[in-house]
Amino acid sequence: MTPLSDEQIAFVQGALPGVILHEAMSKHTNFRLGGPAALYVVASSSDGLLTAVQTALQAGIPFYVFGGGSNILVSDDGYKGLMIQAANREMSIHENRVKCESGVITAFVARKSAEAGLSGFEWAVGVPGTIGGAVYGNAGCFGGEIKDVVATVDAYRLSDGSRMEYPNAACAFGYRDSLFKHEPHVILGCTLTLQPGDTDAAMRTLNEINARRKAKQPLAEASAGCMFKNFDFRDESELKALRRNSDIPQGMIEAKRLSAGWLVDQAGLLGKTMGNIKVSDKHGNFIINTGGGRAQDVVAMTSLVKMKIRDEFGIMLEDEVQLVGFGE
Ligand code: EPU
Repeated sequence: MTPLSDEQIAFVQGALPGVILHEAMSKHTNFRLGGPAALYVVASSSDGLLTAVQTALQAGIPFYVFGGGSNILVSDDGYKGLMIQAANREMSIHENRVKCESGVITAFVARKSAEAGLSGFEWAVGVPGTIGGAVYGNAGCFGGEIKDVVATVDAYRLSDGSRMEYPNAACAFGYRDSLFKHEPHVILGCTLTLQPGDTDAAMRTLNEINARRKAKQPLAEASAGCMFKNFDFRDESELKALRRNSDIPQGMIEAKRLSAGWLVDQAGLLGKTMGNIKVSDKHGNFIINTGGGRAQDVVAMTSLVKMKIRDEFGIMLEDEVQLVGFGE
């Protein structure tokens, strides 16, 4: 990645008064690591988000929009472009429709919806980061997936500069996947349709989900949540073809999905360390920065985990976390 010129930097500074130079991304990621962004700006409205993106386009510099910093791994060399934090946080509830800008924290949407007596999104209290990020990666946990409640997505399409309102069916949602991972867009907001329900019941569900997460996942540690996607298989023949297919829990066989955390655990990698990077003792799909860790060691650790799982099971795990600033 080529460094930015003085002219490009001056242009961005002129257009975006709040822009910061050399901002350490370790301050903005749940991994608590990552080198500096050459330019960094917080967009506190959807218009501001669009202005920031258009400024980067006009200056001819790379840009990256992130939300909560919960699902990204930023290189130790940082990002040689404009990092834009989506902090557009307007949200409103009208009957059973919840309209959010992309920078609203997903767990906040879950809580406010439950408080308003709406059900169907309680599970999302367990999803870190922003709703825009959740839409981008079709986030899910404890049986829920955001694709099941999204009515529309408001997004700026970079290929032709048009602002689109995509209905759910046009979003190509799949397991941790969406249209937005394949065609460059800036997600500006979304509308969810939930079920009218009962506040007490919704709050109970929400609290249960929080307790289950705390019991199973290392939430107090610095990590990007699940590092790898779970492994989906089509049918029994694919399962039989695996190098190792004994002791697979019945639930995973029925769901046709092997938990990456379980695979890591089975491979004996819980607690494995490399520098200040460690595979959680609690859940194999969480890679933790124990303090002062480097992105380079996370990459080395993920490579080691992938090789071990490939050798032992014949499965190639895929990253769920987005890598930023590596080799562009
Ligand atoms: N398991 C182990 N050892 C481990 C991890 C898991 O034996 O180290 C077992 C568990 O005991 C359980 C099974 O594997 O029987 C499944 O584990 P879990 O319920 O934790 O679900 P998961 O498939 O590993 C998924 C999501 C999580 C989400 C949880 C809870 C992915 C990649 N992960 O994990 O999402 O919170 O379900 O519903 O889809 C994330 O996306 O960042 C994330 C953490």
